[in-house]
This record gives sequence, structure tokens and C-alpha cells, in this order.
Amino acid sequence: MFKIKQPDKNPLGNSPLDIESLASPSARSIGKGSSTDAGRSWTLPTNHPDPIVLAGGIPDTETLPVTDLRETINNVLDNEAGEALRYGGWLGFDGLRSAIALRQSKLEKLSLTEDNFILHNGSSGSLDNICQAFIEPDDIVVVEGPSYSGTVRTIRGYMANVIEAPLDEEGLSVKALLKIIHDAKLGNKRVKLLYTIPDFHNPTGVTMTLQRRQQLAEICNNNHILIVEDRAYTELYFKQNSPQSIYDITNGYGTIQIGSFSKTIATGIRVGWIMADPEYIEVLERVRFDMGNSPLLHRALAQYLTSGKLDSHLSKMRPLYDEKCAVLCKSLMDYCHPYVTFTPPEGGFFLWVECLGASSQQLVNAASEEGLQFPTGATFFKDGYNTDQNHIRLAFSNCNIDQLSQVGLRLRDAFHRIVD
Ligand SMILES: Cc1ncc(COP(=O)(O)O)c(C=O)c1O
Repeated sequence: MFKIKQPDKNPLGNSPLDIESLASPSARSIGKGSSTDAGRSWTLPTNHPDPIVLAGGIPDTETLPVTDLRETINNVLDNEAGEALRYGGWLGFDGLRSAIALRQSKLEKLSLTEDNFILHNGSSGSLDNICQAFIEPDDIVVVEGPSYSGTVRTIRGYMANVIEAPLDEEGLSVKALLKIIHDAKLGNKRVKLLYTIPDFHNPTGVTMTLQRRQQLAEICNNNHILIVEDRAYTELYFKQNSPQSIYDITNGYGTIQIGSFSKTIATGIRVGWIMADPEYIEVLERVRFDMGNSPLLHRALAQYLTSGKLDSHLSKMRPLYDEKCAVLCKSLMDYCHPYVTFTPPEGGFFLWVECLGASSQQLVNAASEEGLQFPTGATFFKDGYNTDQNHIRLAFSNCNIDQLSQVGLRLRDAFHRIVD
């Protein structure tokens, strides 16, 4: 249980407020979360003069599309300032919703319209809205184990009973899901929701096979489980698109998809979306109480999309991330071969590495001395270190090629500090 620190001085002389008793059950049951969960940059203390940080899932800083974004924002301010600088409503700017609908329709070969979209503060804001609309305390929610700690934290914040289903190289284990459903029934409960990251998974990099998607869709359909499909990394494939989405397989029946410009453009944009059947959108609207997000950014992004700038940006980013991943893998193979095993991902930002002969926590500490910083795999499990002690997650997206080529050497020296 997380304890809230109480103030010890009240200038008006009364006894201090008992903040703990005022806090909601959600605030009482959950701690503040890690830097990764909060979207803050993450570093460990180190004396190394030139640390290499493989921590956050953020796009390459050097190639952020600053010029194009500046141009579109200026354009909006020059031509539509009145509209752009007033409240825009909680569904978001119609022009951006249509532009996303058009783009997603092409990408997924679907017929979507703006009525299928509600815009949010990234995919995290989207998930928050979904939880608010569909989760009650103690509802069973299945997530991949491991999964992205930030989104799982959101689900836990709604006091759901989060149960992890392990992943294998084909994605979330169907056998594990069936067992969770079976056990829930035995306890007179049901699984309410499944949250999955099928493409270039965070943190493991695994892409769910088509067959696995079809099986999951069928199981969830049979058991009335709502699927939330997080597509944060989908467009960042290296060579080949990922298989058909679960949304497409189910034709949106029982599936809600979330997407974001955080990984494709910049995390600071804070614009993402929920894509769902209008009947779901209507329920989501009922519990949206803010006044929507920035109409200025929505309008600028609409121009950025419709002018084709996002597509040309992505066509440059894919080979760059592919190369970064390959350089990191080669560096690990060259220097750390006996100490690590991993499967290179086919897209996304992360390499999930199993460490042999040293625990992940030992390695994180020793690597920090060598000027190499990354989180333990334990960060991405509900029970952390109790569940996993031998994985680390290396984010290659925001390091340059030269840094990535040095990772193997530094990691080998870190292993030597422990093993030799
Ligand atoms: C799988 C996944 N979903 C959602 C998010 C949060 O993204 P956003 O910036 O769109 O809120 C992240 C960020 O790392 C992520 O990895």
C-alpha cells in the first residue's frame, strides 16, 4: 500500500489534514510510478563521462520533423487562428479525425470515417478513457507478461485485477489465456478485457502471428471479452508490415484499437486516438470530462498528414531504425555472445535480451559504471523482480549508430565486473 506523506505544519494552527483518508481508493492503492511510466527521461547516477542511454521508447531526436511541424503550425496560426485557439471539443478536430480515418482505411483496407475516432492525449490518454468507460474495480483484465508498464499502470489505477499471460515467439499464449478464463469462471467471475500490443511489442519486440491473432479474436469473441489493441509501433516496421490487425479480423466487433503519433512523429506531440465502432465511441464520450486536446496541434497534424509529410517521414525512419537495431545486435554478438541471447525484432524500438550468468539487477548496476543505462526486464512485470531476474530491455531508437556500436563492448565489461 502506498502511503501519502502528511504535512506536519498547518499555518492556521489546526491539526494537519489526513490526506490519506481523503485520497481515492485508486490513489491509495498505487504508488507514483517509475520515470518510464510518467514519460520522464530516465538515467542512473554514473561517473562515466559519456553515458549511453538505452532507456526510453522515444523517436530519434536528430531527425524530428521540426521544419515541417513549424511550417504547419505557422500555417494554422496565419490562416485559422480563431478556430485553432479556442476549445475544440472532446472528439477532436474533425479534419484530423477524417485524415486519420482515411489513412487507417488505406493502411488496414477498412472503410472508416471520422465517426470511428476520438482523439486523446496520446495512447495513454486513450487507454485512460477506455478504462473509465469500461472498467470497474476487481474486473479481470488480461495483459501480456511482460507488457508496457505505463499502460498496465493505467489499468491498475482503475483497480482492475490485472492478470499476466506469458508471451512466446508468436505472441500472447492462447493456452494461458484459456486457463485464466477457466479459472475466472470457477470463481464465478469473467475476464472483462484483454490489453495487447501485437506489433513490435514493448518490451519484447515480438510480433503476434496471424494465426495467434485469429485464435485470440475467436476466444475473446466466444467469451465476450473486450479486446484493446495497442498499435503504438505498428507503422515502424523495418521491412515488412505486421499481419492483419485484430480490429480487422473482428471487423471492430468487440475490439477497440488505440494509436498515437508519439512514436511516428514525437512523444511531445501528445496526440493519439481511439478507433472503434461508433457505439463504443458514444460510451467513451459519456465519461470524457476534459475539454478535448489542443485544436492548434490537431489542425497542424491534419495538414501534416494530408500533405503526405508523415508518410515521407516514416519512409526515412524505417531504414534508420532497422540499421540501428542491426548495429546493436551485431555489437552484442561480437562482444557478449556467451552472456546474452535475443531474437532481433522486425520493427519497433526495443531489443529484449536474456542475460546468462548475471542477474538483470546486477547487470544494470555494473553497466551503469560502464556508462550504459537501461532498465531491467523486471520493470515490465506486475510483480517485478519476483517474476523476472534475467532480462533487460535495450531501446535503440534514440541512440546514434556510433553509440550503438559501443554497447556490446561496454556490456561485456559490465559482465566481466560480475562474472570474472
Ligand atoms: C505500447 C505503448 N503504448 C502506449 C505508450 C504511450 O504512448 P503515448 O505517448 O501515445 O501516450 C507507449 C510508450 O512507450 C507504449 O510503448
